[in-house]
Amino acid sequence: MIKKGIILAGGTATRLFPLTATTSKQLLPVYDRQMIFYPLNTLVKAGIRDILMIVSPEYSGQFLNLLGSLLKKRGARIVFEAQKIPRGLSEAFILGEKFIGSDSVAMILGDNIFEDDFSRQIKSFKSGGHVFAKKVPDPERFGVVQFDKNGKAVKIVEKPVRWISDYALTGLYLYDKRVVEAAKKLKPSERGELEIVDLHNFYLKKKELEVSVFEGEWLDAGTVDSLLAAGNVVKEKGLYKNFHPLVEESIIEFNSELKEIAKKRL
Ligand code: G1P
Repeated sequence: MIKKGIILAGGTATRLFPLTATTSKQLLPVYDRQMIFYPLNTLVKAGIRDILMIVSPEYSGQFLNLLGSLLKKRGARIVFEAQKIPRGLSEAFILGEKFIGSDSVAMILGDNIFEDDFSRQIKSFKSGGHVFAKKVPDPERFGVVQFDKNGKAVKIVEKPVRWISDYALTGLYLYDKRVVEAAKKLKPSERGELEIVDLHNFYLKKKELEVSVFEGEWLDAGTVDSLLAAGNVVKEKGLYKNFHPLVEESIIEFNSELKEIAKKRL
C-alpha cells in the first residue's frame, strides 16, 4: 500500500509559450479546471493523503494559493518543494528524499491525465517498481517498453530512434524506497537529464519491475494542440465528473470563496 505521492509540476514548458510565460503549464485550464487537479485526483482517489508537490520557483505562490489550504481541512497534506533548475524526472526522488523517508511512493507528472483508476495497483503495491504502459501511434516521443511473447517486459528505452515497440510508458510511477538511492546514482543522459527510464531499468534488471498495460485515455497536454484536445476529450467523455469528493469539494469551496471576495470588491 502506498500512502505518499509526489506530483512533479516544475519545468518551463517552452512548447506552450506564450501561455506559459505567465503561469505554470500545470495551472492552465483543461476544460473547466486547472490541469493539476487531474494528477492530484489520481493520487487522492487511491487513498493518498500525503503529497509533495514539486513546482518551479516563479509559480510557487500560485500553486500555494490554489492548493495550500483547502485540502488540509479535509485531511490531506500538501507540501511544496521548489525545483530551481529542472534536471529530469528522476530528480523528483532526490528532492523528495526527506518526504519519502522509508516509505514507498507514487510519482505522477503534473500534466498527465488518466481516464483509468489506478487505485487497485497503488493500494496493493508491496515493493519494487510498477509502471503503466499504453499503446500509442508515436512511440518515439516517449519512454518505450518492449515485451517478450509472454507479455513480460524485457527492454525499456527513452525515445528509441529504432522502433522496439508501440507501448509508451506513461507518467505514473510506483517505487519502493530504494528509488532515492538509485536516483542519486544516476548520470545525466545525452539530453542532460536524469532519466526516469534509468530508474525503470534499475528495477527491471533486478526482475522487480511490473508493467501494466491499460486501455483508457491518456492525455498529456504538452503542446497547444494537445492541450486543446485534452480539454475536448475531458468534456466529451465527462472526465471532469470523475473527481473524488475531497478534491471536488475543495474546488467548489475555492470557487465560492473567490466569488465572495469578488462581491466584497464591488
Ligand atoms: C517523459 C519521460 C518518458 C515518458 C514521458 C511521459 O518524457 O522521459 O519516459 O514516456 O515523460 O509523458 P519527456 O516529457 O521528458 O519528453
